[in-house]
Amino acid sequence: MTRSILVTSALPYANGPIHLGHMLEHVQSDIFVRFQRMRGHKTYFVCADDTHGTGIMLNAEAEGTTPEAHIEVVAAAHRADFQDFLISYDCYHSTHSEENKALSETIYLRLKENNAIRKASVAQLYDEQKSLFLADRFVKGTCPKCGAPDQYGDNCDQCSATYAATDLIEPKSTLSGTTPVIRDSEHIFFKLSDETEFLKRWTSSGTLQEAVKNKIDEWLDDGLHDWDISRDAPYFGFEIPGEPGKYFYVWLDAPIGYMGSFRYLCDATPNLDFDEFWGPDSTAEVHHFIGKDIINFHTLFWPAMLNLSGFRTPTRVQVHGFITINGEKMSKSKGTFITARDYLEHLSPEYLRYYYASKLSNSVSDMDINLEDFQQKVNADLVGKVVNIASRCAGFIHKQFDSTLSQKVETPLFALISAKHEAIAELYEQCEYSKAMREIMALADQANQFIAEEAPWQLIKSDDTRERAHQVCSDGLNLFRLLIIYLKPVLPALAARAEAFLNVAPLSWQDHAGQLTGHRINPFNPLLARLEAKQVEALVSVPVEAANPATDREAADDSTDSAIIDIDTFNQVDLRIARVIAAKPVEGADKLLELTLDLGDHERRVFSGIKSAYQPDSLEGKLTVVVANLAPRKMKFGVSEGMVLAAGPGGADIFLISPDSGATPGMKVT
Ligand code: MSP
Ligand code: ZN
Repeated sequence: MTRSILVTSALPYANGPIHLGHMLEHVQSDIFVRFQRMRGHKTYFVCADDTHGTGIMLNAEAEGTTPEAHIEVVAAAHRADFQDFLISYDCYHSTHSEENKALSETIYLRLKENNAIRKASVAQLYDEQKSLFLADRFVKGTCPKCGAPDQYGDNCDQCSATYAATDLIEPKSTLSGTTPVIRDSEHIFFKLSDETEFLKRWTSSGTLQEAVKNKIDEWLDDGLHDWDISRDAPYFGFEIPGEPGKYFYVWLDAPIGYMGSFRYLCDATPNLDFDEFWGPDSTAEVHHFIGKDIINFHTLFWPAMLNLSGFRTPTRVQVHGFITINGEKMSKSKGTFITARDYLEHLSPEYLRYYYASKLSNSVSDMDINLEDFQQKVNADLVGKVVNIASRCAGFIHKQFDSTLSQKVETPLFALISAKHEAIAELYEQCEYSKAMREIMALADQANQFIAEEAPWQLIKSDDTRERAHQVCSDGLNLFRLLIIYLKPVLPALAARAEAFLNVAPLSWQDHAGQLTGHRINPFNPLLARLEAKQVEALVSVPVEAANPATDREAADDSTDSAIIDIDTFNQVDLRIARVIAAKPVEGADKLLELTLDLGDHERRVFSGIKSAYQPDSLEGKLTVVVANLAPRKMKFGVSEGMVLAAGPGGADIFLISPDSGATPGMKVT
């Protein structure tokens, strides 16, 4: 029976680069998708950037740009990362889309019609310095449940408790460091508690992992609270219909983004019907792949929302644990915060795809990426076992037998390995990839053993056994072909190279049944290079690039040593003395001052992030140093024509560089 399957990965936040932790999830879901497609099922795979919220708004502001422009730049980078990791999305969309807006409004209005929405005044933390209600992640304090310090305002990463930010003990605004005040505002709630009985049924329907189910049972036993789905302006998101100045909380429209992305795909694909997958009577499957930190959103809020708004609920929520690198959390200062792009600059994606597959199971426990183990496993398994079979056999077939396989098939090993197709398929289906990889490598061992015992390099020497050598090498290549079928969901590019070498059409799962006889093969080019220690070591020593100020502030702090440059390079920088003629604040930017500079023979306008340290008036008349040949930079507030030099960590500690008296505007600094 052909199944209709929709698969999603969690939507990455559009406020930072994709790193190897995110990539684990996309590789896990992509393997599942490629497997289902090979089996002939009608499979769609969608994702999107998660673009809303205060964080993205503030990031864009710090960069002097708009949220819309900011999320576009990030989306382009995310898309390229997934494409280069061979993640086969049918659609990678954005939550800031027409489709998502329409669906979010529909769902909200249906919830309202179904009496699942209520309003209540909420006492909320307000940062007076920033004039902003504080989103949960901008307040930190002590967990009210377990007492763990330094927890965010929504949930505790120590005990997984969820709570209101106002429940935090000793809260502090992470934006200004000040203690926030409590202010009242009317908020809109989704009456989740009414859905407790439904959720008990849904979570017991047998489609959740045991550990996940247990966690949810704890929450259900504790009793569910209604869910606050509105945020006050200023907020980057969708305004709630009929509620001016109130916006949907990012986690309301984020999962709807799965539907929005699929809707966009349907609109672009003839005969793809949205309701077949999302309608209340859908018989299609919907599989969400997520990390363990976002279980509550996907197994409580999301199914309850869908249930009450006339849509189907997910078939399966597949949860994975977090990765650590060399036994520790990814860390910028240790060089182990590895972005997808850092990785791709050194290594081809398939090494990591295989390594992830060899570690992934149906469990939610964390997994460690050990770089030595990574190198060793890839070389031993892929190069030493799988590719080795082809390279041992190909030479003889080409040199001695006119590049043509024997007419008959002989080894019983083929039947044995072919018969494993069901067991291996079941492991893929259950997301037990590590077991599947172990099984496949055990089969590769048997194939290698067969070739070693038959020793075609001996057989070829005598005319009596020459035909036997042909047979052994032909059988060997048929075994290799089988292993490639089984590995293809994990290693699509290696499989494509193997298909070209074997001179066959793209392999599907069903091809395990047939063998190649009297078949011409193509020249053998090395299919996969060994992974060298040097390449792997280079992964952890890459400098972290400043992709955006908010996530990389940490990185900037620990980059103390810089590269040496020669005098010619230095001379390319045109440093000039300038006098500040005027300085004024920039409306809508809380870090910037607009400076008008006298450079001797002309004036310039420069935006500078020094507002936290200087009163505008105090700057007028001051001499400073400006980078005069910096490319003009377009910002939200206008074009900045250069940069003034300043030192210091930020806040009140920013020190404008100023020359000794006597220097005059326009003078070159050498
Ligand atoms: N935007 C939300 C998801 C919305 S889904 C409707 C989000 N974004 S995220 O960028 O923080 O995380 C995206 C996914 O990556 C999540 O499933 C998260 O669990 C996963 N991971 C983030 N860091 C990870 C590791 N270090 N290891 C494994 N997975 C990790 O949450
Ligand atoms: Zn806690």
